[in-house]
Amino acid sequence: MNIILFGPPASGKGTQAKRLVEQGFTHLSTGDMLRAERERGTDLGKTVAEIMDTGGLVSDDIVIRLIEQEISKNPQGSFVFDGFPRTVAQAKALQAMMTSHGVFIDLVIRLDVDIDRLLSERVIARGRSDDNPKSFKKRLNQYIAETTPVAEFYRTKLASVPGMYPIEIVSKEIDKAIKIVRERD
Ligand code: AP5
Repeated sequence: MNIILFGPPASGKGTQAKRLVEQGFTHLSTGDMLRAERERGTDLGKTVAEIMDTGGLVSDDIVIRLIEQEISKNPQGSFVFDGFPRTVAQAKALQAMMTSHGVFIDLVIRLDVDIDRLLSERVIARGRSDDNPKSFKKRLNQYIAETTPVAEFYRTKLASVPGMYPIEIVSKEIDKAIKIVRERD
């Protein structure tokens, strides 16, 4: 089974994806991959540093290549995608690469959150280099402009989960959505 966790910055995608690893999923986060490149000081890491810190989107080509490398290691694995796809071009590329391996996305879980509360309640405390009000606002605007159309791309696979409850409650709602798809298919 392959799942996409979908939602605005700080909606809890990474938190919930890490928990799904305990259920056997492989967590693929393009944000984590890019931060790892930065920590290693690679050319790619240097190229993307400023874009990330200011809340912009890294180019489709770069993130598609990163995801392709991971999927090709074990195409039949169960993946949970976090922060990817973030544009319709990325969604189309993911579909093409999965189809070429005979697999597909089973479920897209959208975390429904109160955007106005995220910055004050979740982001400031974390202290990541893009967790400042200016970058966060840009990340949100990018999400609205570039990423919300991705939900429409996956409309037949989409399940909404309330994301403002405590972490364990959100997890239970995600488990319910997964169970429905498993029992149906
Ligand atoms: P990325 O790392 O993907 O950042 P993001 O989407 O902005 O998401 P976050 O990591 O901020 O939040 P999250 O939804 O994972 O929430 P989390 O679980 O951490 O991307 C960073 C940058 O990389 C992008 O801006 C872009 O430049 C680049 N990039 C990445 N992917 C790209 C792509 N595909 N294309 C182009 N560019 C790309 O939770 C946030 C906080 O809230 C945590 O402190 C957590 O403990 C807390 N929390 C979580 N859930 C709850 C809850 N239910 N109640 C209370 N607190 C909670």
